[in-house]
Amino acid sequence: IMDNKDLEAEIHPLKNEDRKSQENLGNQLKNEDNLQSTHLQSRLSRCRTVAFFLSLFICLFVVFVVSFIIPCPDRPASQRTWRVDYNAAVTYDFLAVEDINRDRIRDVLFLYKNTDGINNFNRSCADEGLSSPCAFVAAVSGANGSTLWERPVAPDVALVKCAVSQPGGSKLSSACILVGRPDSVIAVNLFTGETLWTRPGSPGRNASILSPLLQVPDVDGDGAPDLLLLTREEEEVSGYIYSGSTGHQIGHRGSLGIDGESGFLLHVTRTGAHYILLPCASSLCGCSVKGLYEKVTKRDGPFKKDPWWENTLNATTCRVLVHSAGAVRYLVPVSGKAGADVLLVGSEACVLLDGQELTPRWTLSTARVLRKPIFGHYEPDTLAVVIENGTGIDRQILLLDLSTRAILWSLTLPSLPGGPPSSSLPTADHRSAFFFWGLHELGSANQTETRPAGHSLYMFHPTLPRVLLELANISANIVASDVVLFEPSRHAAYVLLTGPMSSDEPGLVSVIKHKVRDLVPSSRVVRLGAAGPDSDQAIRDRFSRLRYRSEV
Ligand SMILES: *[C@@H]1O[C@H](CO)[C@@H](O)[C@H](O)[C@H]1NC(C)=O
Ligand SMILES: *[C@@H]1O[C@H](CO)[C@@H](O)[C@H](O)[C@H]1NC(C)=O
Ligand SMILES: *[C@@H]1O[C@H](CO)[C@@H](O)[C@H](O)[C@H]1NC(C)=O
Ligand SMILES: *[C@@H]1O[C@H](CO)[C@@H](O)[C@H](O)[C@H]1NC(C)=O
Ligand SMILES: *[C@@H]1O[C@H](CO)[C@@H](O)[C@H](O)[C@H]1NC(C)=O
Ligand SMILES: *[C@@H]1O[C@H](CO)[C@@H](O)[C@H](O)[C@H]1NC(C)=O
Ligand SMILES: *[C@@H]1O[C@H](CO)[C@@H](O)[C@H](O)[C@H]1NC(C)=O
Repeated sequence: IMDNKDLEAEIHPLKNEDRKSQENLGNQLKNEDNLQSTHLQSRLSRCRTVAFFLSLFICLFVVFVVSFIIPCPDRPASQRTWRVDYNAAVTYDFLAVEDINRDRIRDVLFLYKNTDGINNFNRSCADEGLSSPCAFVAAVSGANGSTLWERPVAPDVALVKCAVSQPGGSKLSSACILVGRPDSVIAVNLFTGETLWTRPGSPGRNASILSPLLQVPDVDGDGAPDLLLLTREEEEVSGYIYSGSTGHQIGHRGSLGIDGESGFLLHVTRTGAHYILLPCASSLCGCSVKGLYEKVTKRDGPFKKDPWWENTLNATTCRVLVHSAGAVRYLVPVSGKAGADVLLVGSEACVLLDGQELTPRWTLSTARVLRKPIFGHYEPDTLAVVIENGTGIDRQILLLDLSTRAILWSLTLPSLPGGPPSSSLPTADHRSAFFFWGLHELGSANQTETRPAGHSLYMFHPTLPRVLLELANISANIVASDVVLFEPSRHAAYVLLTGPMSSDEPGLVSVIKHKVRDLVPSSRVVRLGAAGPDSDQAIRDRFSRLRYRSEV
């Protein structure tokens, strides 16, 4: 359809031309006006150009001045290695790594027992009303090992749990909660070491405290997660709930009506209900957190019920859910897309249990596992589990594909019983670097001939499956160790806590940090099986080029 104007133009072609010439005339007149103003405008535009360049110049000048006079904020220089020593002390199997002084380099938290703190923080046991010696909790800078804070907490420590609140969470939850012996529960601020609250703990004098200390969702509505403590007295397990922000006990003691052991787990089913999974004799017992909460407080809590689990528990709070072959040693949560599954490590078999119906997904029998398994990635983005079969001279390390149970890699790596645990770090290629401790004679010759001097740290990466790198030799007794990233996506280092074997004989306690990359050039290449074509130096170069990735 033509529009009206065009139609009109077709009908009156002359009229249209008329209009055009009139328009031209108007334009000419306008142009004459314009000519007069051009002078003014050109002067104005020159002014504008000058102003533009002047302001540009001033801007650049300011930028240059500022960038040269005001220096960039320094990235805190991190020492590649540091060591902190305490004389006549004993230490505990506890290490935590968190950014405490907020310099973006993670710091190290640990416990030691001594008569007094080190010199510059002269807080003694007596300041806290404790008899000497007492247990201190200390935080040292990950950058250079300087002490950030330390404070006496209890005569002795049974359990510790440190947690940083999630962004947006309550400030109160950035705390370390310590369960002391004989009976106290203390919460200290993670960032300053100040006491947040302290309470007399474990009411039963003869009760032993089961590990770990659990955080349960907030039940008293103060925004901080609350605490669940399980104790065992006369072959019966009892639960206590404490407020996470004040330490006040919520309700009374609640008996679970079963016997059980340390190493329990808070399991969340796919429907969002909370249950405690607890090793009990040769079985796995399950307890409803909702049931326990109702028992201790006599009121309804914020917990959900899961129909399948409630049916299995049959209106009791706790009962046996799965019979295991042999004693249950570890219960390890395995997070998956659909929800958590549970890896049950028994003295005779490892079983991966479905997190909802507790049916076995796979079973690995004939494994004597004495160590808590760890996880990592052997193939990109596929979760693998590291299982240590046996202990001592014929300890075997197995890397299994978690979904299929296929053995991806195995190695006989002799170790001393009770040697330090393995670790893994994600690498940029979506696999993981694995770190194993073993005896340092590995691959060199006769294992029976020379007495082992101590432990060696070996590094392994799945892209070089026939090679191990011996990074370090440690002759001291290692109480706790870990390999961690001190900065996001970089700065992989091992942390060691060494000290006396027995808590009755105080001695030298040391905390040591050593950057992994610095150890690679002087490391020893251990070839497993036939030697590959690569030279030792080429292998070391490949290990030093590894890039790490922060876990999401
Ligand atoms: C150490 O003790 C002295 C005297 O007892 C006191 O003046 C000083 O402030 C204390 N230092 C610290 C870091 O608490
Ligand atoms: C250690 O590093 C911290 C910052 O992380 C700094 O404040 C302190 O002065 C350093 N101490 C030493 C002895 O270098
Ligand atoms: C604690 O245990 C000791 C011996 O094991 C016993 O004599 C004492 O009566 C027990 N105390 C309580 C309160 O059960
Ligand atoms: C559930 O409890 C009832 C009564 O306590 C009992 O008779 C029944 O056998 C129990 N069922 C199972 C499966 O244990
Ligand atoms: C674990 O070690 C034992 C003894 O060394 C061996 O018989 C068994 O086959 C090993 N298990 C696996 C799964 O390799
Ligand atoms: C290991 O030591 C034994 C005796 O000490 C010796 O007979 C054997 O040849 C040695 N083996 C190696 C590989 O050196
Ligand atoms: C470990 O010690 C042995 C013998 O003491 C030595 O041959 C080896 O080079 C050391 N390895 C490292 C990585 O220092």
